[in-house]
Amino acid sequence: MIRTKILGLGSYVPERVVTNEELAYLDDQHVRQETVQTETTDEWIQKRTGIKERRYVPNDGQWATSDLALHAAKRALTDANIEPTEIDCIIFGTLSPDFHFPGTAVVLQKKLGIAEKTSCACFDIRQQCSGFVYGLQMADAFIRTGMYKRILLIGAELHSHSLDYTTRGRDVMVLFGDGAGAMILGPVESDDQRSGVMYTSAHADGNGAMDLYLKIFDISRRPYVDYNPKDRETNKDMYPQMDGKRVFLNAVRGMVMSTQSALAKTGLSWDDIQWFVPHQANLRINEKVVEVAKIPAEKVLNTIQFYGNTTAATVPLTIDHWRQQGKVKKGDRILASVFGSGFTWGAAIFTL
Ligand code: UT7
Repeated sequence: MIRTKILGLGSYVPERVVTNEELAYLDDQHVRQETVQTETTDEWIQKRTGIKERRYVPNDGQWATSDLALHAAKRALTDANIEPTEIDCIIFGTLSPDFHFPGTAVVLQKKLGIAEKTSCACFDIRQQCSGFVYGLQMADAFIRTGMYKRILLIGAELHSHSLDYTTRGRDVMVLFGDGAGAMILGPVESDDQRSGVMYTSAHADGNGAMDLYLKIFDISRRPYVDYNPKDRETNKDMYPQMDGKRVFLNAVRGMVMSTQSALAKTGLSWDDIQWFVPHQANLRINEKVVEVAKIPAEKVLNTIQFYGNTTAATVPLTIDHWRQQGKVKKGDRILASVFGSGFTWGAAIFTL
C-alpha cells in the first residue's frame, strides 16, 4: 500500500529581530523612529499573547514571500537529499502572496530554477493559518493516488509590509512575523497504518469570514481599495481587521475539537505521540487548548515567543526550530492542530 512519507523539512526566518519594545517605535515602513508611534508595551504583549519578539525582512524592497519560501525550500530539499528538478508538484500556502495573480507557487518554481520543468504542477492555497494542514491533506491524497511523487509543501508569509503600525492597528500588528516552513513529501510502500502521514482533517465555517480579513482587494468595488496619503482613516482597508475575541474563542474550540477527533479516529493516545504542535497565534490560546483537551504539557511545542504568528508557516517552522534544538527527532510522531481566518481549521498526525 502506498503511504505518504515526510522526506525532508526546512524553515527560514529573516535575521532582523524586532522586540516588543522596538515595535512601539516603528513607522509605517517599519523603520525605527525617535518617538513612540504605537501605544503598546512589552508587558501587555507578553501577558496577552506570550510574544517576546518576531522576525522582519529588511525594508529594502528586495524581499517577497517567495524569497522566504525559497530559503526554506532549499533547506528542505537538502534535508531530503533531493534535487529541485525532482519536484513534480508545489503546494504553496500563504495569505501574503507576491502578487494578486499569478500565484506564488509559480514564482517559487522559477526561483528554484525549475520553471522549464513544465510537468511540475503549481498550486496556491488560501486557508491562512490553516494552510499547512490543508496542504498536507492535499499532498497526502495526491501521493496516495500516485498523482505526484515529490511534493514541495510550503507555508510562507511576509506580514511586516502590510501591518498598521499605529495605535489603531496594535491589536493585530503586534501578533505577526515573517517566516517560512517547507516539507518534501513522497510515496513509500508500507502496510504500517501508523507510518508517515497517518491522519488529516480539514474544516471550515464561512460564517467567520469577516472576523479576520484583509480587503486590500475587494472585487465588488471599483477602485478595489481607497487610498489617501493625507488621511490614514481612508486607508483602513489596507490593513488586516480582526474581531480578536471571536477569533480567540473559535480558535480554542476548533483546535480542541480537531485534536480530540484526531485521537478518536486513529485510536491513538498521547502515549503514542511525542509532540503536540499547535498553530502559533497566541500562547494563551494554546494553553487553553492544552488544558481543555488534557494534553500532557511536556509534549507541547511553541515558538510564538520568538517568531510571533507566521500564519501558514507556524507548524513546519515550530517543528524545525525544535529539531534544530535537538528536541524533535526523526521518527517522532506529531499531532498538529491549526485554526485560521475563514474560519478554517484542522489537524494532522504524522511521523517525521
Ligand atoms: O491565527 C489566527 C489569528 N489571530 C488570533 O488568533 C488572535 C486571537 N485573539 C487574540 O489573540 C486576542 O484577542 C488579542 C491578543 C488580539 C487581544 O487580546 P484581548 O485580551 O482579547 O484584548 P482586548 O482586545 O479585549 O483589549 C483589551 C485592551 C483594550 O483596551 P481597553 O478598551 O480595555 O481600554 C485594547 O484597546 O487592550 C488594548 N489593546 C492593547 N494595549 C496595548 C489591544 N491591543 C493592544 C496592544 N497594546 N497591542
